Amino acid sequence: MTIIVIASGKGGVGKTSIAVNMAIMMSRLMPMQRVVLLDADLGLANANLLMGIQPAYTTRNIEDGMTAEEIITERYGIGLIAGESGARQKTLESVRRMLRACMDVAADVMVIDTSPGISDAMTEIISAGDHVIVVSTPEITALTDSYQLLKYLIRSGKVEGELHLLMNKTGERDDGSSKAAAVTNLCRDYLGHKVDHLGSIRHSQAVEQAIMEQCPFAIADPGSNAAHDIGDICQTIIEKRGENHGQ
Ligand SMILES: Nc1ncnc2c1ncn2[C@@H]1O[C@H](COP(=O)(O)OP(=O)(O)OP(=O)(O)O)[C@@H](O)[C@H]1O
Ligand SMILES: [Mg+2]
Repeated sequence: MTIIVIASGKGGVGKTSIAVNMAIMMSRLMPMQRVVLLDADLGLANANLLMGIQPAYTTRNIEDGMTAEEIITERYGIGLIAGESGARQKTLESVRRMLRACMDVAADVMVIDTSPGISDAMTEIISAGDHVIVVSTPEITALTDSYQLLKYLIRSGKVEGELHLLMNKTGERDDGSSKAAAVTNLCRDYLGHKVDHLGSIRHSQAVEQAIMEQCPFAIADPGSNAAHDIGDICQTIIEKRGENHGQ
């Protein structure tokens, strides 16, 4: 199983939207593979809302003894392990148990959405990733928080997966490459760690529309800039993964 974790320093940069649509796009590009989306936002899980799902079960039910497989909801060709919204703060041990249980599902690709910011629980989840995608926007605040998160993860020594920076909500003409390079160069020069600029997703009305309509833009508006950009990013990951079953 290939695990892709979507993380960020700053909140509201587009993680959930990217996680949902990336999972759907991955399953479209690799129709023979099972893709599961795990909503591991430990505070305010909402991937189900973006998919128009009212889940019968959430990760809470794992704590009550159900298996992760039993709580999956299928939609748009992917399986969703919905998270708990408004949950009380979890202990590190309960996060570990939840994660271990989710790793037992039969999936080829697991995309994990997370809460923003730096914490031990998030580091635990992020360190499960083969690919860790830190989402930023071109705003200085988001870029700074991305660097802080990357610094924390690199210094923790716990992350073995590849670290990537993804720029979201970029302009038509400026894909945020130079701003991304400022962050990735700092990681190289001061932390001695390679972080690549995985790609950029343009600011697109289709994303806002999709959230309002509770239908992912990869489904509702596959011709949109955002869907096109996220498709390119999925292709890059698939190539890195060394298996291109969709072609
Ligand atoms: N490429 C984009 N173009 C336009 N709007 C976007 C884009 N990506 C995200 N948004 C908007 O940004 C807002 C936040 O998105 P989202 O909920 O996915 O962020 P998040 O990082 O998961 O937030 P949180 O940290 O609270 O979990 C949404 O209202 C969404 O419409
Ligand atoms: Mg979110």
